[in-house]
Parts: sequence; structure tokens; C-alpha cells
Amino acid sequence: MGKTTLITGGAGYIGSHTTLALINAGQQVLVLDNLCNSCRESLTRLERLTLTRVDFIEGDIRNTKLLDDIFSRYDIDAVMHFSGLKSVEESVRKPLDYYANNVVGTLNLCHAMARYEVFKLVFSSSATVYGAPRQIPIIEDLGTGKPISPYGRTKLMTEELLADLCLSDPRWSIALLRYFNPIGAHESGQIGENPNGRPNNLLPCLTQVAMGRVPELTVFGSDYPTVDGTCVRDYVHVVDLADGHLKALQALQSRNGIHAWNLGTGNGYSVLQIIRAFEDITGISIPFKFAPRRAGDIAECWSNPTKAGRDLGWYAQRDLVRMIQDTWRWQLRNPHGYHAQSDLLAPVALKQRV
Ligand code: NAD
Ligand code: UD1
Repeated sequence: MGKTTLITGGAGYIGSHTTLALINAGQQVLVLDNLCNSCRESLTRLERLTLTRVDFIEGDIRNTKLLDDIFSRYDIDAVMHFSGLKSVEESVRKPLDYYANNVVGTLNLCHAMARYEVFKLVFSSSATVYGAPRQIPIIEDLGTGKPISPYGRTKLMTEELLADLCLSDPRWSIALLRYFNPIGAHESGQIGENPNGRPNNLLPCLTQVAMGRVPELTVFGSDYPTVDGTCVRDYVHVVDLADGHLKALQALQSRNGIHAWNLGTGNGYSVLQIIRAFEDITGISIPFKFAPRRAGDIAECWSNPTKAGRDLGWYAQRDLVRMIQDTWRWQLRNPHGYHAQSDLLAPVALKQRV
């Protein structure tokens, strides 16, 4: 067996799209996931799409014995680290879970990597590390800020931990990939975002309304100093993100130390612009009401992705139309996510636009 990339959290939303990209690039992968926010079905779909068996271990990165076992059995030469908890709202209620999973989990992983002399790591960071940005669009060199949630602080702490690790030993090569707002799904409609419980992010909330499950969308805030009073974000297609991971891993072959790259499109869209675009593309009407601002939201957040372009040759290829089309295709084919019994279109009450 050739060199293997260990993918923690590879059954999840971004991890599954990246696992697909790695397999399609001919790479050997091993997925480690405890399935706390995903299910085995995403990997079964990957197997169907690639006609390749996906090596999978169901387990937790906090289990040091398991990590030892994995690193001793497989010829791992790099790790892509997606696993972690990601709900901002939940992190406020359960900070210990978030610090234990995201920070201590990464610590365990790095210990195991060091023990087995695996020094290449691609880490899923977030634009949340910038806090309230001092300048828009956001460039990496301006430095990080003060994240507003425990979730955000786990990402920043992890970045700092990884930076210290690189200072301590020059053999480490680490990519901090700071995602902006990932949306979309693979064009096959076979894998996509499958949130557990009530969604909080804009696109999953919007598709719930489009599917007729929720009567109207709540738009948080109408008085921001933006183009139309609603918040502006940099939405980026998950397949472009997956490609960014591949390019980052390639870049780590020839550079040591720690490197932060923004993965965004460089374009900002307001909440109202997203609703209108969704209506135009799908022909479905999205009733909405305005509500007060959501705590912790900032008016505008979008990237300057020039550094990733220059260093990695990575540019987001897919525009907003494509992001919405692919999100909607996944939703229509999987109205109950991976839990659906079949991929047939379920009888949902779509609201055609009048
Ligand atoms: P996801 O929840 O779909 O995927 C995370 C995966 O990790 C899940 O499959 C989950 O079961 C697994 N997992 C969680 N804790 C684990 C543990 N202790 N051991 C093993 N597996 C574990 O989330 P995602 O959207 O694919 O996000 C992937 C990464 O990217 C996360 O670290 C997240 O914080 C980060 N990120 C996501 C977004 C986003 O909007 N989706 C934005 C910025 C950063
Ligand atoms: C949020 C997290 C961020 C995380 C990202 C991806 C916060 C403060 N930030 O980013 O740390 O990395 O998700 O998981 O939670 N909106 C509505 N109605 C809704 C849902 C959202 O108006 O029902 C608005 C929000 O107010 C925001 C925009 O849509 O202005 C985007 O929201 P969301 O998708 O949750 O992403 P972020 O808040 O940018």
C-alpha cells in the first residue's frame, strides 16, 4: 500500500467532498470519524461515485490508543484534520465539549503525529479567527482578532498551538485553511451538507423554507451599514474548498513552517441578495420576515483570496448560481439527507414563485 493521507472528520460535509477529490486525484486515504455529526452513508456514496473502497475507522481523535494503533498500522504521511464541533450557538452552551473536542482533540492528534514522525497537517480553520475585521476584504497578513464565541476561540487557540509546534520543530509543515462561508454540494447530488437538528446557517435555513418545512425565513437585522441593510458574507462552493485542500497538501511538500490561507471567493453577498438569487434560480418563493440582529453577527465579512492564488494556484471556480443550483439539487434528491430510504424525490410542498 502507498503513502496514505489520514482524513479526520472525513464523513462530514467538507471532509467528504475533500475525500472524494483526493480519491479522484489517485491518492490513498484513510477516514477516521466518530460519526457524531455524520453517518456511514456519506462514505458509501463516495464509494459508489469513485468505484473505490474507502478505508474507514469509526473512532474518536481523543482516543490516544486508537491513534497509536492507526499510525502504527498505516503508512501515513499527511493528515487533513476536519474533525471537530462547529456550532457557534452550541459552543456557548457547551464550551467544555468544544474545547475538549477541538483543542484537546487536535493536541492528541499532533502528539500522535509527532510520535510517528508525520509532520504534514492541513487544518480546517475559519474566518471566525479574524473576529470583527479591521479591514475588508480580509487579508491574512493583518493578523487574527478576537473571535466572539467559544467555537471561534477553539479555532484561534488551535492555530496558536500549531504555530508554537512549528516554532519548536522545523520538520512540521502546516496549512491553516481559513474558510469563509462554505455552501453547495457535489454536482452529482450524492453528497452534501446534512445538518443534525435545527440548522442555524443561512443556506440550510433557506432550503427548509423552500421545502415547505418552515413557513418563513427569519432575516436577522435590516439596519446594518451594507448595500441593503442585511449582512454580507463570502459564500464559497464546497467543491472549490476541497480543491483548495488538495493544492495546500501539494504546497506542503515543498514548504515547512506554518501558512495561513483564506479560502473564499473575494465576493460578498447580502442575505437579501442570496434570497433573491435563490428565488430566481429555483423559481421558488421564499417568504421572510425581519428580526433583530443576531448576537455576534458582524456587518460584512469577505476575503481577499490573493495569497491562496499566488501560493497555491487556487481560485474559487464556481459562482453563486452554481452554489445555489448544487445546494438545491442535493436537497431535492435527499429531502431527508442521508437518512432517506431512497433517492427519489419526496412529495414536499414546494412553493412556486407567483
Ligand atoms: P461536519 O460536522 O460535517 O464534519 C465534522 C466531522 O467530524 C463529522 O463527520 C463528525 O462526526 C466528526 N467528528 C467530530 N468530532 C470528532 C472526534 N472527536 N473524533 C472523530 N470525528 C469527529 O463539519 P464540516 O462543515 O465538514 O466542518 C469541517 C471542519 O471545518 C470543522 O473543523 C469546522 O469547524 C470547520 N469549518 C467549517 C465551516 C462550515 O461552515 N461548515 C466553516 C469554517 C470552518
Ligand atoms: C457562522 C459562524 C461562523 C462559522 C460559519 C460556518 C456565527 C456568528 N458565525 O458564520 O463562525 O464559521 O457560520 O458554520 O454564527 N442569517 C439569517 N437568517 C438565518 C440564518 C442566517 O438572516 O436563518 C444571516 C446571519 O445573520 C448572517 C448570514 O445570514 O448575517 C450568514 O449566516 P450563517 O450562515 O450562520 O454564517 P455566519 O454567521 O457568517
